[in-house]
Amino acid sequence: MVDFTRLPRHVAIIMDGNGRWAKRRGLPRTAGHAAGAETFRSVATYCKDIGLDYLTVYAFSTENWKRPLEEVSAIMGLLKKYLLESIEKMERDQIRLHFFGDLSPLPQELRDLCARTDKISTRYDGMQVNVCLNYGGRDEIVRAARAFARDCAQGKCSPEALSEADFSGYLYSAGIPDPDLVIRPSGEVRISNFLLWQSAYAEFYYTDVLWPDFGKDELHRALAAYQSRSRRFGGI
Ligand code: IPE
Ligand code: IPE
Ligand code: MG
Repeated sequence: MVDFTRLPRHVAIIMDGNGRWAKRRGLPRTAGHAAGAETFRSVATYCKDIGLDYLTVYAFSTENWKRPLEEVSAIMGLLKKYLLESIEKMERDQIRLHFFGDLSPLPQELRDLCARTDKISTRYDGMQVNVCLNYGGRDEIVRAARAFARDCAQGKCSPEALSEADFSGYLYSAGIPDPDLVIRPSGEVRISNFLLWQSAYAEFYYTDVLWPDFGKDELHRALAAYQSRSRRFGGI
């Protein structure tokens, strides 16, 4: 049973298993990604309805470029379609969309859509969804280190004075609380370069359910598991 008065503030999801979902049905992998995009839409809406503040989803990693060009192009096409539809619905849904990752290698049209979505989002104050696109936890930390080094070189700060909180301010997640719960469907039990810094004290929930099959019941199971844990943060 989920106690809806004690929900995590920030849930993060590794949306994995689209390819296997399609394979099991004798469909092309891209059909799995299309189904996964629909799941994202319904899970995000439900998270907003129950009152979560932040949802962060892993949509495309810095390592996913290793896939065949055809699959990468199909994913980019789906993202474009999804963003175009979201822009139309944002007023009604009141869901803010924000992006984590290096968007520079993405197709220009998709980058423009991300910028448009980001801009529209500043008008709302509902739940924030962070979509990780060309995101890698290590890449994020290296970028933060570079930005910090540049600020030091310009005399804006000093290496000795850097705190963990200051460093967090250089990450894509600047100003956003760390995820309380990280969910990974599809049966894999690994982090795959997701939110390495931010998930230092997150609770993890793994399930064999494939992402396109992930629904409300599965989310409830994850939330109930989270609520049954004792978070000690190193204390007793
Ligand atoms: C996750 O599903 C989507 C992306 C990584 C873009 P996968 O495509 O990794 O699905 P599986 O793991 O092959 O089943
Ligand atoms: C993680 O899934 C990335 C996303 C879901 C976007 P992968 O399918 O890429 O992860 P690995 O390769 O199984 O670790
Ligand atoms: Mg996978």
